[in-house]
Parts: sequence; C-alpha cells; structure tokens
Amino acid sequence: MKIAQRMSLIKPSATLAVTAKVLEMKAAGIEVVGFGAGEPDFHTWKHVQEAAHASIRRGDFYYTNVAGTPELREAIVAKLRRDNGLDYETAEVMASCGGKHTLYNIMQAVVDPGDEVLIPAPYWVSYRDMAVLAGGEPRVVMAAESAGFVLTPEQLRSGLSKKTKLVMLNSPSNPTGATYSEEQLAALAEVLKDYTGWIITDDVYEFICYGTGRPRHLLALAPELRDRTLVANSVSKTYAMTGWRIGYAAGPLEVIKAMAKLQGQSTTNPTAIAQAAAAAALSGAQDELAPMVAEFRRRRDYVCERLNAIDGISVVVPGGAFYVFPNVTGVFERTGTRDGDGLALAILENAKVGLVGGNDFGSPDHVRISYATSMEQLEKGLNAIEGWLSGL
Ligand SMILES: Cc1ncc(COP(=O)(O)O)c(C=O)c1O
Repeated sequence: MKIAQRMSLIKPSATLAVTAKVLEMKAAGIEVVGFGAGEPDFHTWKHVQEAAHASIRRGDFYYTNVAGTPELREAIVAKLRRDNGLDYETAEVMASCGGKHTLYNIMQAVVDPGDEVLIPAPYWVSYRDMAVLAGGEPRVVMAAESAGFVLTPEQLRSGLSKKTKLVMLNSPSNPTGATYSEEQLAALAEVLKDYTGWIITDDVYEFICYGTGRPRHLLALAPELRDRTLVANSVSKTYAMTGWRIGYAAGPLEVIKAMAKLQGQSTTNPTAIAQAAAAAALSGAQDELAPMVAEFRRRRDYVCERLNAIDGISVVVPGGAFYVFPNVTGVFERTGTRDGDGLALAILENAKVGLVGGNDFGSPDHVRISYATSMEQLEKGLNAIEGWLSGL
C-alpha cells in the first residue's frame, strides 16, 4: 500500500525536528543547550490558568460552536478593536487549533491548484508546505539582508503575476525578526491596492516588538484592503500559550464561512477549556506582557552583541519576535560545512547547542537562533559555539 503522493511534496517541520533531536540527546544523558524553540520560556499567566480551572469546574466538557464559543469570538472582536483599531462582526472571526491551523484553513479556503502564493523570504517554514498542500505554487521573493530582511515595494511587485492568488505578510517575522515600520507597510499597501487577490497578515508576533510604539496594522493604514485580507493571529506567543493551541482569524464573511466548513469536517472546535483560557488572555489585564517583552529585548541585545563579536558571523539586529538570523557564510570553510543546515548539525554535535539551519526558511546562508530561553542558557550556548569555532 502506498502513502498518498501529496505527502511526498512536503517536509517535516524543521523547527520541530530540531526540538525533537535536542530532547532525544537530553534523554540519552547528553547536556544540550536548546536555541531551537519557537515558544516563550514564560508561564501562561495566572489569571488565564484560573480561567481554565473555572472552565473545568463549570463543566465545559462538550463540543462548542465549530468556529469558537461566543465568549471567545467576542473577545477576539474586542481585541482587534482595542489593539489594532479594526472593526469586525462576531461572524467575521473564528478560532482554530493554533495559528498554524488558522493559516492552514485560510490556504485551503482561498488557494486553488495552480494558484501562486507569494511568500517573502526568509519565511516561516510552514507557509510553503501549506501552500503546496492546497495545490498552490509558492513564489518566493527574497528580501535583502542589507535591508534588514524587509521586502521593498519593488520586490513585492516583481513577485506578483496574473496567477498570484495570495500574498503572505509576516511582521515581526519568523525567522528574521524583521519588523516593518508603518511607512514600509504603507508602501507595500500601495502595491497591494493594484493587486486583486487575497492577503494574509500573520500577526502572531505583533506584541513582541522593540521599537518605540507598535506600528499600526496594515489594515488600519490601508482599510481599502479589508475585503481581501485575512488577519491571522494566535495566543501562543503573546501570552506564552503555545500548548493550548488557540489561533484565530478575522476576515471577509465568505472566507470565514468556508474555513468553518472545513474545520467542521476536520477538527471541529478547538478545545473548549483552551478557548475559555484564550478568551481570558485576550480580554483580561495585559500587564504581564511588557516585562516579558523587556526581557526579550535585553536578550536580543546580548545575543546580537555576542554573535557580532564572533569572527565570520554577522547579524542584523532585529526589531521584533524572539529570533536572530545570523549570516554564517564566514565560518563555512573553517567548519567544513556548506550551508546553514550543515553548520547547525555541526554545532549540535560539537558545541552541543541546538539551533535551526536556514535552508527550510529559504536562506541557506543563515541559521536561526531563538533567544526564548534564559540568559544563563544563552551565555552557556554562545560560549560553547564561540569556544568551538575559535578552536578550529
Ligand atoms: C510566523 C508564525 N506564524 C504562525 C505560527 C503558529 O503558531 P501557533 O500555531 O502556535 O499559534 C508560528 C509559530 O511558530 C510562527 O512562527
């Protein structure tokens, strides 16, 4: 019996693969520093945990509306108004099992076989495979490292064709941390006004942003794009809730209905108790966010300084998310490696530090380091990498 052909078109998630390998080494008694994780090393807030306990005590043990409980959908609507200045009806938003599931549902709902999906690179590993699973053809447009990995309007325009059905935007970005300013977003919006397909804004890192003042949302800057834009977000990163698996989308009713139809034939609703927790996270006090972001910022500064001091490695200081994406071409010769994946493996074997090669992010000249781990671990891991490289 054969596995379906479409399974050969996609790869296992590179980031999850590194995390699995690090866990495997740890289980074998090998001490490894993990720089691979794409999740905050903070706890879900107490009042959010309490909302989940209350949900259990209340007996939320049953199916909910496929698109989410009224409580969660109203919390999403209120959040979009409060944080993003965007107005949606409850029927225009829905919850799914994580931001990844939200993005998957959107791609399935809007991409037809043969449609092009424009993906700025370096990109988050899953966009490409999700587009392929929908029958789409990823069209990758590379943003320049010298421009801080921010796509220019000209680059965006050059990637659009008659076949483009969907444009992916992600700021702050995984893996580069690139964070578009309002001016940069407005310039992209000008190009998008001439294009007639769908747009996704993947906002999962919106609050992990280090500039003065969070840039306004693309749709707040260009409301005329609203009828063609799907806003995708999640409680995972902002609220340290990766394991709860709640993501959400806002967009035109016809797309939300199509996504809910698909979800009704696949996962049904996300877990009722996690929905109660997510509603509490979105609508409750937000005061634990600023200290977390301040801590990430401290670590970003530390990691960038340390990396830039290593001969052969250079890093653009990113404006958001909790990743840095150093260029490692200057150490390939010394380490006998040829690309980011090869170097990541060599670092894991020799320095016992787990990080992710850039190949699956569309950029083999780089590796991705997550600094969502303690200062102590960062120091230890960077010492090990530096020590190994300087001994070669
Ligand atoms: C850019 C980006 N979008 C979406 C997600 C999905 O996150 P989740 O499914 O945990 O909500 C991630 C997770 O790493 C991400 O980095």
